[in-house]
Amino acid sequence: MNPLAEELNKIIISEAPHLYELLSELGRRFYFPSKGILSQSAEAKKKAFKFNATIGTAMEHGEAMHLDCLTSQLPAISPDNALLYAPSPGNQKLREAWLAKDLKDNSEMNGKPCSLPIVTCGLSHSLSLIADMVADAGDVLVYPDKNWGNYALNFVQRKGAIPRLFTLFKDGGFNLDSFRETLEAVVAEGRKKIIVLLNFPNNPTGYSPTEQECCGIAATLKSIADKGVNLAVIVDDAYFGLFFKPETRRQSLFGKLAGLHERIWAFKADAATKEVYVWGLRVGFVTFSIGGVAADSPLFEAVNAKMGGLIRAVISNSSALSQHLVLNALNSPDFFAQREAKASVMRRRALKVEEVLKNSDYSQAWEAYPFNSGYFMCLKINGVNANALRVHLLEKHGVGTIAVNDTDLRVAFSCIEVENIPELFSLIFQAWKDLR
Ligand SMILES: Cc1ncc(COP(=O)(O)O)c(C=O)c1O
Repeated sequence: MNPLAEELNKIIISEAPHLYELLSELGRRFYFPSKGILSQSAEAKKKAFKFNATIGTAMEHGEAMHLDCLTSQLPAISPDNALLYAPSPGNQKLREAWLAKDLKDNSEMNGKPCSLPIVTCGLSHSLSLIADMVADAGDVLVYPDKNWGNYALNFVQRKGAIPRLFTLFKDGGFNLDSFRETLEAVVAEGRKKIIVLLNFPNNPTGYSPTEQECCGIAATLKSIADKGVNLAVIVDDAYFGLFFKPETRRQSLFGKLAGLHERIWAFKADAATKEVYVWGLRVGFVTFSIGGVAADSPLFEAVNAKMGGLIRAVISNSSALSQHLVLNALNSPDFFAQREAKASVMRRRALKVEEVLKNSDYSQAWEAYPFNSGYFMCLKINGVNANALRVHLLEKHGVGTIAVNDTDLRVAFSCIEVENIPELFSLIFQAWKDLR
């Protein structure tokens, strides 16, 4: 074990021993290389009053060396801000601004000790970073049967976790019974560690739980932790903010899990990707909390040092230009109003989908899974294979959708103008009739 990792582990064990128990082998081994190139160049940045010949960038005339054919595309951004490296854990100001945004969006997070978000190269990277921190081969991952396919690639194929799926829906809402029974079955096997992954608004169905359901989820997790089982609970907030119905809860589930229990290590995995409509900029975050530690605990920095080390090892750092753009957007006085205006566009589309689905002809062809949020909705197709329908719909009618499995067809209404939504569903119905 590297002495720097040992130092971090000592802090973690003394501050939150159950968090240490939840760390993977890799997570335990990792550290931020704070005594190497990075710290020497940081030291030089402060003290080298004559020449700074430390870091692998090129400088000219006191700023980042650059080609005008590139920087002329970015007239509002200095070459330094656009082109120099960001720190591995991310631009400090962006980390603070994202936390401030999260606290504004989620009043439940206020007063619950949380880490400063670390910046990732998008939410997929947030999830793989968390997976590296917590998952060893043979660990159990509990997640819903309606899920984003990349979870299996990341946790199951890449890390060797064992998937245990619970049934997401029952009677038009979150299936708390299946969630609890799935967790209890894992506990009955004698396991003392479970990784749980939840995503609302859900991909592929577009479902977000009610306040009561979120309380039920939190109480269930607490009851499992009370049995002496350690839980790493990951909340994937990819589509956060797009809540369409008055009764839909508007806050992240993370707010209910933060600080809840000494054995619950809660992660908020979120990103500018979908929330700020910057898919290709690749800016994501990881924030975490665990019960029983004070806000000023050195635990937060110690765990972030491990995650910063993992970032350093794998991608070194995320795009400084992307981080700069997102930071400036967050700092704009118009940010929240502009975000709300786009959410209204998405809301109108979702409500139009809901209206169109009332057509009684459609009930023979499919049943819609509950949806109230996010980018998608999902149809459970009757009597026709969903992939056969997808292929026919594409080839005969020129309409692209996603077959999630043999029965479910995902429709991204996020990509369809509101006036085209009736025709979209009419064509799906036509294609279904063609095959029936
Ligand atoms: C539920 C969910 N989580 C995470 C992601 C990944 O987002 P990113 O593009 O930031 O990696 C997606 C993208 O489709 C998603 O649907």
